[in-house]
Amino acid sequence: PALEKDFLPLYYGWFLSKRSSENLRKTGQAFLDELASIKVFKKESNKHFGGAIEDPKMKLDLTSYFVKRPPGVLHCTTKFTDFGKAPGSEDYAQQEGVKSSYGKAFFLTISALFITPRTAGARVELSEQQMLLWPGDVDVLPPTGSLPKGSRAHITLGCASGTEAVQTGLDLLEFVKLEKAGNKGEEIGEIGGGKLLSYGNGMWMILLSKKIEVRAIFGGYYG
Ligand code: 2AM
Repeated sequence: PALEKDFLPLYYGWFLSKRSSENLRKTGQAFLDELASIKVFKKESNKHFGGAIEDPKMKLDLTSYFVKRPPGVLHCTTKFTDFGKAPGSEDYAQQEGVKSSYGKAFFLTISALFITPRTAGARVELSEQQMLLWPGDVDVLPPTGSLPKGSRAHITLGCASGTEAVQTGLDLLEFVKLEKAGNKGEEIGEIGGGKLLSYGNGMWMILLSKKIEVRAIFGGYYG
């Protein structure tokens, strides 16, 4: 136990298998490509994506816009423990469920992909069993406050230059806040994988018509 205290990871989470990770990156890229070619998006993107395109006929390269991509396999952070310095990390690390699930395999369900002017990510729908590994203190969006448990569950696909990865979860909470307030987004139409919704301010989400299952191992990342 003394050792565990001294060596908490930077964060706990589910780490996708190499294959699932590659597939999800590809799906994410296809989504960005398709989104970039849509008229309504192009019209909006000048305003929200930093004048990345001057000529409306030109296609915005979203893949290079979200230039900061996670190295290695993709993951879904459960608890950012910051080597034990983050509040609540000891409590989280001591949980029976966390200890017994360490190193175990899971299937995560991805229900949507989203982008904002800051981040691109995949929304993860947690099962009841997976919810047991979800911390009680992370679904908080300042200054709004707490949102339903698991609201923040996501996989970061990319961040715009100058944006830290922590932003992806906050951006997803922003979508959830709008949903809770009754804003279901404006339906733009069907694209490749599902229904495209615009929430304004450069916030876009595609609800996947066929949810994606990815294989992942629960564990800790030590940096
Ligand atoms: P992410 O989960 O949105 O990708 C290492 O920095 C990992 O921990 C990243 O994957 C990052 O975001 C997550 N992370 C960094 N700082 C965080 C914080 N303060 N709260 C929650 N997650 C954080």
